[in-house]
Amino acid sequence: MVHFLFLWMMGALLQVCHATIYTNDWAIRIRGDRECVSRIAEKYGFTNMGQIGDLKSYYSFRHSETAMRSTVSNTQVSVSVATETEVEWLQQQVVLRREKRNSRANHVFSVNLKSENLPTAHPSNQTLHNDSMWRNPWYHSGMNIGGAWRRGFSGKGVVVSVLDDGIEREHPDLKPNYDPLASRDVNGQDDDPSPNYSSAAASNYHGTQSAGTIAAAAHNSHCTVGVSFHARIGGIRMLDGDVTDMVEAQSLSFRPQYIDIYSASWGPEDDGATLEGPGPLTRLALENGVRNGRRGRGSVFVWSSGSGGLRGDHCSCDGYSSSIYTVSISSSRSEHLEHLERCSSTLAAAHPGGEGMVTLGPQKSCSRTTAASSLSSSVGAGVIALTLQANPLLTWRDVQHIIVRSSKSHRLPDPDWSVNGAGFRVSHLYGFGLLDAEAMVLEAQRWRRVPAQRSCVQEDPQISRAMFPGSVLTSVFQSSGCSSRVVFVEHVVVRLSIDHRRRGDLSITLTSPSGTESKLLNNRPFDDSTEGFPAWELMTTHSWGEPAAGGVDSEDQRLVL
Ligand SMILES: *[C@@H]1O[C@H](CO)[C@@H](O)[C@H](O)[C@H]1NC(C)=O
Ligand SMILES: *[C@@H]1O[C@H](CO)[C@@H](O)[C@H](O)[C@H]1NC(C)=O
Ligand SMILES: *[C@@H]1O[C@H](CO)[C@@H](O)[C@H](O)[C@H]1NC(C)=O
Repeated sequence: MVHFLFLWMMGALLQVCHATIYTNDWAIRIRGDRECVSRIAEKYGFTNMGQIGDLKSYYSFRHSETAMRSTVSNTQVSVSVATETEVEWLQQQVVLRREKRNSRANHVFSVNLKSENLPTAHPSNQTLHNDSMWRNPWYHSGMNIGGAWRRGFSGKGVVVSVLDDGIEREHPDLKPNYDPLASRDVNGQDDDPSPNYSSAAASNYHGTQSAGTIAAAAHNSHCTVGVSFHARIGGIRMLDGDVTDMVEAQSLSFRPQYIDIYSASWGPEDDGATLEGPGPLTRLALENGVRNGRRGRGSVFVWSSGSGGLRGDHCSCDGYSSSIYTVSISSSRSEHLEHLERCSSTLAAAHPGGEGMVTLGPQKSCSRTTAASSLSSSVGAGVIALTLQANPLLTWRDVQHIIVRSSKSHRLPDPDWSVNGAGFRVSHLYGFGLLDAEAMVLEAQRWRRVPAQRSCVQEDPQISRAMFPGSVLTSVFQSSGCSSRVVFVEHVVVRLSIDHRRRGDLSITLTSPSGTESKLLNNRPFDDSTEGFPAWELMTTHSWGEPAAGGVDSEDQRLVL
């Protein structure tokens, strides 16, 4: 009885925490000139805060008579603004729960180290040839980063921006590479992304640490050297405040002609019960980025694949890392194994550096990483910066192709490795394996751009099917329309709606015509939701390179779901 009560109370508490919080910000799409936008803003008591990032016709409006945070929406305002003929879409912004990956573990301690005790890195002169891990913190990563450096690649000319809690632009390791044009404070609405250290509760140096991993300067004998130590590095401060769909979209579409790589190590909670992905504006920002960013070659969005493994989480329930537009990176460090999430959308793994590796700390300090710290996606962003220097003409899909081809599976133990129909070894933990920087720059130099992306969308004619508890539902999906349009598969996205009494009990496997089995979803013990999957998209990269037609003697594509 007591037990029952306790559980009930927990449920009630959680409900309070999860109540929707409405902000005083609206995202509005208006077909009209600047005057028209100002007129509408003024008429309804808004301040026009400007266009949302690079998204044309989308504006950020702040309402003066609405509370900054409230549990009730102001539908009255929404309804009246919607009557304007030029207003095509609008949405009052709600607060999203977004967490920094591994931040808790990461911030257990930070040591101020005297710089004379620290290894120094001089990667561009002959010390590079010295096989000493002291001089190259990435030496033992198995990723051949030194090999890419020796070939002359250091990220020069490539611009990377870290979307996080800010970056310390005055940090001696960042200052030489800091780029104000790649930086923005979305939380504070200004151009200075410096983190706020005055809040004791939040240790806001996650972004600084990530930025250092990517592009800490060489030759300054301070904490460390970044993977791409000549790349220009910026920061977008967006996690230190209320995160909304609009905040994410502003950040992901900030200067897409200037920034090449966006690095994000955060997402919906990895609690094993959350099912969340990018909202409408953020989806638009990602699509806009790959279509138009980098003068049409496409922005590269690097994402961490999640660390909720201990809570039975599955990265397919994180719509950011499972988007086809993000390069989702997991960790190759054995201590991380139980934290890692399995899913079929992870593209590759990176080694975040050994335990105790020196990295950046707050207030110009250095710190040592702890066992659970995860900077893998930042390392991935650095390696991609080296690759883009080797060939700046690569498109966002070329980058993914190069990762698939050059990543290494040996030395990463996983019973799950399998060989897909195109001969690539792939796993649900590590994608196509550990990134290999030297192999990537070499591949990039001789790479010929892949043809334009083609997509094939087909609907299952059987609209709905019932499923019995404990049963297996096998759905064979035949598709012939794809075979002529899509020759080789890159991503496969399965969009489905499922009603179920307990979402965590579901698991979903997709078998390709070549026989590759992608675990699109695994059971999640902590997911008690009764909401099922409302038009959720699951993605797999495991059939990469396989013929869409399913072998020479078959005209039909056969997807078994
Ligand atoms: C290589 O590094 C070690 C350790 O820092 C140093 O003692 C040695 O002199 C270096 N060798 C060369 C050839 O630079
Ligand atoms: C920094 O955080 C503190 C505590 O949360 C807050 O009071 C202060 O206004 C913040 N400063 C800035 C510049 O945002
Ligand atoms: C390598 O370069 C750094 C900075 O330019 C310099 O201080 C150091 O002495 C150089 N090392 C060698 C062995 O030339």
